[in-house]
This record gives sequence, structure tokens and C-alpha cells, in this order.
Amino acid sequence: MELWMCLLLAGCALLSLGATQPLAINYTTDILRLAKAAHIKAYLSEDEQKPCDNFYNYVCGNWPRLHPARIKNKKTNYLEELQELFVRKSADMLKTARPGGDSSADRLLKSFFTSCYNQANDTQSALRTLLQVTDFRGGWPEIRVPSWYYYEYDWLQVIATIKRRLGIDIIIGLDVILDYKEEHMHRLKIGAPQLPLGHRRQYLDASYHLTRLRYQRSIAEKLQRYFPEQSQRWYEEVSDQVVDLEQQLAKGLPHNAALTLEQTTRQRTAAEMKAAYGSYVDVSRYLQMIFNDTMYVDLYETPEDYLSNLVDVIRLTPKMQLANYTIWRTLDTLDQARVPQNVQPGIWCVQMVRDHFPQQLESLFHRNYNNMQMINDLQSTWSDIKRVFREQLQASTDLHWMTLETRQRAIAKLDAIELQFRNHDETQLIRQTHGLRLHPDQFYPNLANVLQWRTQRQLAKLVEEPQLMDQVYKVPHYELTNNKMQIPITFLQARFFWDPAYPNAIKYGTLGVLLARQMLHGFDDVGRHYDRHGYRNNWWDPISEGSYSRRSQCFQEQYAIFEDFHGKPVHDKGLISRIVADNGALDIAYRAYVEWLKNTDETSTLYQREQLPLLDNTHNQLFYMAYAQLYCSDYPESVEMFDELPEQIRVNTALSNSEHFVNAFSCSRSDKLNARFKCALY
Ligand SMILES: *[C@@H]1O[C@H](CO)[C@@H](O)[C@H](O)[C@H]1NC(C)=O
Ligand SMILES: *[C@@H]1O[C@H](CO)[C@@H](O)[C@H](O)[C@H]1NC(C)=O
Ligand SMILES: *[C@@H]1O[C@H](CO)[C@@H](O)[C@H](O)[C@H]1NC(C)=O
Ligand SMILES: *[C@@H]1O[C@H](CO)[C@@H](O)[C@H](O)[C@H]1NC(C)=O
Repeated sequence: MELWMCLLLAGCALLSLGATQPLAINYTTDILRLAKAAHIKAYLSEDEQKPCDNFYNYVCGNWPRLHPARIKNKKTNYLEELQELFVRKSADMLKTARPGGDSSADRLLKSFFTSCYNQANDTQSALRTLLQVTDFRGGWPEIRVPSWYYYEYDWLQVIATIKRRLGIDIIIGLDVILDYKEEHMHRLKIGAPQLPLGHRRQYLDASYHLTRLRYQRSIAEKLQRYFPEQSQRWYEEVSDQVVDLEQQLAKGLPHNAALTLEQTTRQRTAAEMKAAYGSYVDVSRYLQMIFNDTMYVDLYETPEDYLSNLVDVIRLTPKMQLANYTIWRTLDTLDQARVPQNVQPGIWCVQMVRDHFPQQLESLFHRNYNNMQMINDLQSTWSDIKRVFREQLQASTDLHWMTLETRQRAIAKLDAIELQFRNHDETQLIRQTHGLRLHPDQFYPNLANVLQWRTQRQLAKLVEEPQLMDQVYKVPHYELTNNKMQIPITFLQARFFWDPAYPNAIKYGTLGVLLARQMLHGFDDVGRHYDRHGYRNNWWDPISEGSYSRRSQCFQEQYAIFEDFHGKPVHDKGLISRIVADNGALDIAYRAYVEWLKNTDETSTLYQREQLPLLDNTHNQLFYMAYAQLYCSDYPESVEMFDELPEQIRVNTALSNSEHFVNAFSCSRSDKLNARFKCALY
């Protein structure tokens, strides 16, 4: 492991500091600075690359070699590293019990993690759990009581049990969704389940024949893993029956896969559906079995033809095939918890914990790695950024294109933006998991319990008021409709963006830029139509609006040449917002840095502290390097189109509009990154 990685993870054997409390480790300033320098240097281009030509390549040239996208066929980027760190630190945290220090929710997470770590690839345990949870008294795959399937097998009851116990949608899909007509309530949606191959055409069009063949083979292979003693014929027969049944079900899906939910939905009561479909597909009974109550509410039935087609499928399909299909789908869902090849079990199991207990994991992380100093530093950087923008709005020089009145309204909006740290109500999190029992040595039974717990919570939403969408972001996020800035807990990780030992140039170049970007979203094309309370409300006078359009036109012309990148088209729907934030944030964060320098005693020690070993860059240059490296990324070959402007263009174009950048690297007039006509808004 490289030195900088060790330090970020805060637990390096190399430094023989095997402490269990990561934050208590007391690295010396010199080591931290050295590690940061090595981190920056690792990504610098190894070729002769002129900063004024292509700055992005200059600082990120080596990124694709260290973080190639081709391995997982997925874009890699610098900020994603923060998530990796979160996962790796979480693995350490989940492995460590703290007797007396863990809450009941913490112990649950740790039990789940430990059981996953030890048993997630135990296929026999998955199978045993499956047979315990569900009711296949006829036996499977060896059928001990064949008559059971003919006479007693009640397919509807079996799938209702599986839905209730494991949350799996088989043959019928059921969910609680936000009502699209009245947003303040939830509604039950019933109809088609999500089929593994997707839409109707994948199942029924001749052109997808090969896809289906591959699908069938993958089913046969999985069956073989679970039932090694069965014959080749059996794998083929069962997998063939699975695909066949899904093809029958897909006949009830709409021809046009692009139709929206509203276009394919009708509203009915369970009693009306019972009248329409009779006892072959008895919706009332199904709901009764799931909710243990008679449901009188209106339901959304979607897509409209699914259940009537299902009546035919049920009538014509042997019960044994329905049973085989049901068992297979359940098994396949449990199988998805198995550790995939080439993934470390520790990493995989953190993902499992995160999937099922996202808030509890964040809370545990926060309590383990919480660093008051980081929160304070973040607050102070934020107030620096805010102050600089406020000063610009107050002075009549920089933003002279806005009228005084509009600038005053902008100040009022700016003043109202607050940081919100996503923190959780600990008691509530513990209450949520009340009654859930997990054992450190029984992964699949645990998984079944967790799935049941989740399903009950999901279904219980039907009678609850919708909460404000609790979306989790990875970086600070500006929320338009309440004029607040959300700071995710995973963002507050020691030494990634900043540390008191690092030059402040780095803090302003990374954290400062990220905060300024989000702040400006309150003042860009979309955000400027919302007021300080987050209500839609145009507070711009016509003169300022006119200037705004003219200035953003300058950017549009400047960026218009980037219709494609490396021969692939670029269609960025949020282009203007991105441009405004990119260009404005760079300038505001830099000014904030310069002001900080001015307000600090300018001694030679200060300038020494503002530089790093290994790199002979000035403090101003470090600011721009840290900024640009935030955007280092690599795209897989398979990308056909860019739906966001690629990072290289974003970084280079924003820099080319910056006089300060040109000065910091002494770019000449003819250099590419010294735009002759510089565009500016904020
Ligand atoms: C870290 O080390 C420095 C210098 O050795 C010392 O002054 C400081 O108290 C230590 N801090 C902690 C938290 O141990
Ligand atoms: C799980 O996988 C690991 C490594 O792939 C292997 O060593 C172990 O035996 C497997 N455990 C079971 C129960 O199959
Ligand atoms: C279903 O409801 C009945 C009466 O309302 C109750 O006695 C029974 O325990 C419930 N069953 C389950 C599984 O919740
Ligand atoms: C269902 O599975 C049983 C047991 O493995 C097998 O004998 C039977 O042929 C299968 N039937 C159908 C219709 O898929």
C-alpha cells in the first residue's frame, strides 16, 4: 500500500501504530505533508506536458493508469475515492466490537457484517434458509410428495408468503409508492413484477433470441452450483421452463417500453379487480394474506393488461412449473447476496450493510470518525466563501451588471443559506431496528430476517405521511427548495481534502471550490428563480436579467465548440448551470484563499507552510493543482455518449477564463489556456 493511502485509512502497519481508535493516531506534520505531496504527485502526467496547454492532463495524466475504468467497465474519478475510503474504514469499524460502547443498532450491524463475512458464499445455507422460510412441502429439487403440487399447492399463497417474508415480487408485483396525483399520500401499486430481462421485447422479439439463450444458460449454471448432484437434463429443463414462463408473463407488458407509469396505470379497488379476474388471480385474497386485513383503498393497477394476461397464464400453466419458477426466483434473489468473484468479502459485506442499513451505518461512522475540528474547518471555509461572494455583491465593481436592487436581494438569499450536517436521531434509528434479531454466525437466516424487516417497513408506509425525500448525496449538495446546503457525513473524512498540516491552498482549492459551486447553484439559470425561502419567485429586475442572459451567452458560445469529445457526442442537459458553477466557484474560492493569506501574518514561515515537499510549485499553483485533481477521471471504452460535459473540458475551459491562473503559471498570450475573450458571470 502506498504511504498516502495508509495515512488516509489511518491504520498502517508500516507506521506501527496499531491503534484501534483511528483518530487518536498522532502523525507528525511532516509525514502528513509528505503523504499529501505523494498523493498529488502520483497523478501528475509523466510526459512532458505544459500546464498552459492542457492543465487537466498535466495534473491528471497518470490517473487512468492508477484507476483504470476498464477493470470494472465503470467511470472512475477522484471523488469516488472518498466513497472507497468510507467503505474501507467502515470495514475496519464493523470488525471491531466495542463492549459497552456499541448501541443495539451497532451490534446488529456488526453481527450482520460478521455473518456475511464468514458465510456469504455458503450456498447450502442459502438453500436451507429458502426451504425454511417458504412452504414447499412437496420438496425440491427431489420431489417427495408429487401429489402435493397437484392437489394442495396454492401458488397465490406461496408467493404472498414470499412477498411478506422476503419482499420478493414473483409473478405479481406489489409496492407502496408516492401517489403521482396527490403528492401528500402513498398508494399501493399492483401488477407486473420487475422481470430479470426487462421489457416485453427482450422476451418476445426474435432479435433478442441470443440474449434469452444466454439468460437461460446463466440460470442453468446457477442451478448447477446449488444442486451439483442433478443431471444436465434437469438444469436444462428447469431453466427452459423459467424462461418460458417469463415469456408468457411478458405478453402482458406494454409494447412501448417508454410509456410512463401514468400512461399505463388505472385506478381500481381490490373488489373491482376481484370482479374482473375472478379466482384465478384473486387480488383481494392476495392483499389479505399480505396485510392480514381487508383492503378497501383504491389501488394503482399497472400495466393495464398484465393481470388479465396473467389469468390465462395461470389457467394454462401446470402447477409444478409455477412452483419450480417460484422456488427459482426466490433462490436467485438470495443468491445475489453471494460474494461476487474478484471482490473482497470485507468490501462486499460493507456494501450489504450499507444497502440494508444506510442510516445506521452513517451514524456509526459519524460516531467513530467524527472530528470536531473538521466540522469547524468546514464551517470556517464556508463562511470565507460566503463572505467573498457577499463582498462582491456589495461592491459595485465586480458585479456591476446587476442592479443594486437585485444585488441586495441576492445578498438576502445568500445570507439565508445554511449548512446542514446530515445527522441522525440516534434513538429513532435504534427504535427502527427494534425487534430485529441477528446472529453473527447465521448469514442467510439473518438476511431473511432483514428482508422481512425491510418489507414490513416499506409496506407500512401506506398509512404514513410521505417524508421529504431523504436522498443521500456524496458531496455537499445545495437544496433549491429550502435554500440549504446538505453536508453528507461521508464527506467529512480526515486528510482527504484537508488537514491542518496541509497548505491552506489545498483546502480552498478543493473544499472551497466544492462549497462555492453548490452556493452558486442558488444563483444559476434555475436557482435564481427561487427566493431565500426556496419558493419559486423571480427576484430579478429586467435590467439584471438582460445582463445575465448576455453574459451566459458568452459562455454558451465559448462552450459550443465541444459538441463531441474523443469522437463521442456530448449532450449535457445541465450545461449552463455547470458552466456558471465551474467558472464562478473557481474565482470565488481563489479570492477566498488570497484573502486568507492577506489576513494571516505574511511571514516566510507562512509561505513555507503553503508549499509541499516533493513538489516545487508555488502556493498559487498548488491551489489550481488541488482544484483540477478533484476532477481526475477515466471513462471506459464502452461509453457511447457523454451526458455531462467531460471533466477535461470543464477544468480547462474554466481555467482559461481565469486571469489568476494565467498569472500563477505565467502562461503566455498564445497559450491555449489563456482565452483571448474571457467570459465571466460571478
Ligand atoms: C501529538 O504530538 C504532539 C508533538 O509530539 C503533542 O504535542 C500533542 O499533544 C500530541 N497530540 C495528541 C492528541 O496526542
Ligand atoms: C467462500 O469463498 C472462499 C474464497 O473464495 C473459499 O475459500 C471458501 O471456502 C468459501 N466458503 C464456502 C463455505 O464455500
Ligand atoms: C392477523 O389479524 C388477526 C386479527 O386481526 C390477529 O389475531 C392475528 O394475530 C394477525 N396475524 C398476523 C400474522 O399478524
Ligand atoms: C420442476 O422441478 C421438478 C423437480 O426438480 C422436476 O422434476 C420437474 O420436471 C420440473 N417441472 C417443470 C414443469 O418444470
